Amino acid sequence: MTDDASKNPTDGQTMWGGRFTAKPAELMQAINVSIGFDRRLAPQDLAGSRAHCAMLTKAGVISSEDGAKILAGLDLIEQEMASGAFPFRDEYEDIHMNVEARLKELIGEPAGRLHTARSRNDQVAVDFRLWVREACDRSAAQLQQLQLALLAKAEAHADTLMPGFTHLQPAQPVTFGHHLMAYVEMFGRDASRFADARARMNESPLGAAALAGSPFPIDRHMTAEALGFDRPTANSLDSVSARDFALEALAAASICATHLSRIAEEIVIWVTPQFGFVSLTDAFTTGSSIMPQKRNPDAAELVRAKVGRILGSLVSLMTVMKGLPLAYSKDMQEDKQPVFEAFDSLSLALAAMTGMVADLEPNRARMAAAAGAGFSTATDLADWLVRTLNMPFRQAHHITGAAVKRAEVLGVDLPGLPLHELQALEPGITDDVYKVLAPAASAASRTSYGGTAPSGVRAQIQRWKDYLS
Ligand code: ARG
Repeated sequence: MTDDASKNPTDGQTMWGGRFTAKPAELMQAINVSIGFDRRLAPQDLAGSRAHCAMLTKAGVISSEDGAKILAGLDLIEQEMASGAFPFRDEYEDIHMNVEARLKELIGEPAGRLHTARSRNDQVAVDFRLWVREACDRSAAQLQQLQLALLAKAEAHADTLMPGFTHLQPAQPVTFGHHLMAYVEMFGRDASRFADARARMNESPLGAAALAGSPFPIDRHMTAEALGFDRPTANSLDSVSARDFALEALAAASICATHLSRIAEEIVIWVTPQFGFVSLTDAFTTGSSIMPQKRNPDAAELVRAKVGRILGSLVSLMTVMKGLPLAYSKDMQEDKQPVFEAFDSLSLALAAMTGMVADLEPNRARMAAAAGAGFSTATDLADWLVRTLNMPFRQAHHITGAAVKRAEVLGVDLPGLPLHELQALEPGITDDVYKVLAPAASAASRTSYGGTAPSGVRAQIQRWKDYLS
């Protein structure tokens, strides 16, 4: 860094350098500088400064002429940022001082009045809250797009059969639509977690100043309202110390990423030749540089992996915040990169998953065949015994187990087991039983609320469509 660049252009000192006689060591600057990443807060920083300036003017803390000059200067800065002309400079440490230093270059003395009744501590708190609030809104909107893609696929496959699994072992037939709707529920809860986090964080810390509040007649309700907050925060120490809004958003992101990793894993399994349940087009697969036959689900694998970064970000910031005394400590500058990284990753993962869901094509024949394999309608046989012969379920379970064992010995599936074989186990069985042993009948019979019957699945699809529109 050059001497000149390290100085405030008009007072010949670093912005905070009044009591200092020597420049910071280069290493001090290297560890201290944050403009490389907090420049992403530029739009929020300008919004905060505009609101603060308007309020200072209205409260008579600064003159209307100075207020107008400051606002005009902030407009110029915004234009410079849009055109790429704004000089982001390491020697001004962070976004707040870069904006203020540039403002001074553009409008001169009035720039120095903007920081009245304000500190970088409440400034960064407001900028970051605004950024995280937007990230929550963006995530909720992207989740809705993913839900719409799932709904469209679920509607097309409300009665496409597939095996339902527990322990990844064939359990009972379900429909593909029902399976996809399980994710619509999960992603719906994820969206509502982002909405909850947003509602809780939507208080303005601006005006808390360094930590104790301000002796100037500031109007914190006015700035809160101008920035779209519900109200100002109620305690100045908490205002500049709190980062739980970011932690909560990261927790919501981590849970959401966990859900994404589960559907991603299922896609990875489904597209294997061994399962062959669905295929992805060239749009969401890649080839191998050595094995010409390969079609790899890289996008699904990467979505599956993103939870590592996102949950890592939560752990990272939680660890930074743990044990910090009130109020602001510079540790808290380490809050931004994990949040930026987590939400960049989440946004990409949500978009990629939305694309994959729209892209994937189920192989109905293959899924239907698998739905009947593995004695998947054994529970239906037991239920038939209970319903038709008034047998206690435990006894029915036992007889059905014996039927499965017999089928295994004969090398047939349950519907292929001859009636006399079944009657050898329970004489009351009639050929009416075969009606419930077909996978389609099994799925269609599960009409309890939330069950897999296509009629119920269609009702759930309609409910979600109404809700999302
Ligand atoms: N760049 C700082 C941060 O991100 C801004 C607040 C600095 N405050 C201070 N007292 N040094 O946390």
